[in-house]
Amino acid sequence: RVVVMAAAASDAVPADAVEYFSPSKVNLFLRVVRRREDGYHDLASLFHVIDLGDDMKFAKSTGSRDVLVCSDETIPLDSSNLVIKALDLWRQRTGSTQHFWVELVKNVPHGAGLGGGSGNAATAMWAANELCGQPASEAELLEWSGDIGSDISVFFSEGAAYCTGRGEIVEDVEPPIPLDTPMLLVKPDIGLSTPAIFKALDLDGRSTEDPLDLLERIKSEGCKDDICVNDLEVPAFGKLPELLKLKERLRGAGTKGVSSVFMSGSGSTIVQVGSDDVPEFVREDAALFRSPARLITRKRGEWYKPSGLWKK
Ligand code: C5P
Repeated sequence: RVVVMAAAASDAVPADAVEYFSPSKVNLFLRVVRRREDGYHDLASLFHVIDLGDDMKFAKSTGSRDVLVCSDETIPLDSSNLVIKALDLWRQRTGSTQHFWVELVKNVPHGAGLGGGSGNAATAMWAANELCGQPASEAELLEWSGDIGSDISVFFSEGAAYCTGRGEIVEDVEPPIPLDTPMLLVKPDIGLSTPAIFKALDLDGRSTEDPLDLLERIKSEGCKDDICVNDLEVPAFGKLPELLKLKERLRGAGTKGVSSVFMSGSGSTIVQVGSDDVPEFVREDAALFRSPARLITRKRGEWYKPSGLWKK
């Protein structure tokens, strides 16, 4: 299905390629509700789209295959790539036979709990639909996207969403904290595999807060350690004890303004909310990925744009 281009990506850019920003997300809280018969878990999680993102370009291709070029050589470009799955799904559901040329410049690390690949898939569905005159509605894109991954649908919200089911049942909410709240993302060199973290989760070790209470509290009290709970921290910290140490060090660094420190999704990114100051120990450790980031939203009918604050 996919042609891997030998040429440098820049050489291959069709003149009419359109640029799209492919955002990522954090989970401001994540409760695991139950383990399901189908091997998945029902969640109750407050997702928020953020401006850490990848750069994508799309053009209609005259060929009968999608062409995907990517800046990261470790990412498979075959039909296991979520971008190709997303384009296949979009064609299948709309009945379109259009194929695409796609360039993907990765900034979001994988194994980070930031939904970088899911953001790419959502952006691909959005871009394909735009380039072909919007045969599908936004509601249809949201509904279809759940079939290829659990955390793609959230990108079809307006940016802040309370998600249930596998994560694919999306309810728009008002951004719970100001969009300009400073955030720092710290990602150790090592990533975590989502299925492995869910597998290692001991349901008895979960937090007990009612997720709807957490949703109410975050709106009035903002991000706090006892609100921004993540049930996947225990299994992630079990696999990667350095992560707990990192969380504790960020919390204990005494950085002014920090209101909470927590893991995003299935890790390994640790999110510091309230300040994007980079503590000295993070600065000194070259193995840590770091990036000041901001929450973003979109208007219906428009795709996400970076806030302009994020530094690559
Ligand atoms: O849906 P997605 O492909 O992103 O999920 C990857 C894996 O993560 C699933 O195969 C499953 O093992 C686990 N998962 C889960 N419950 C969820 C989401 C993901 O168990 N709600």
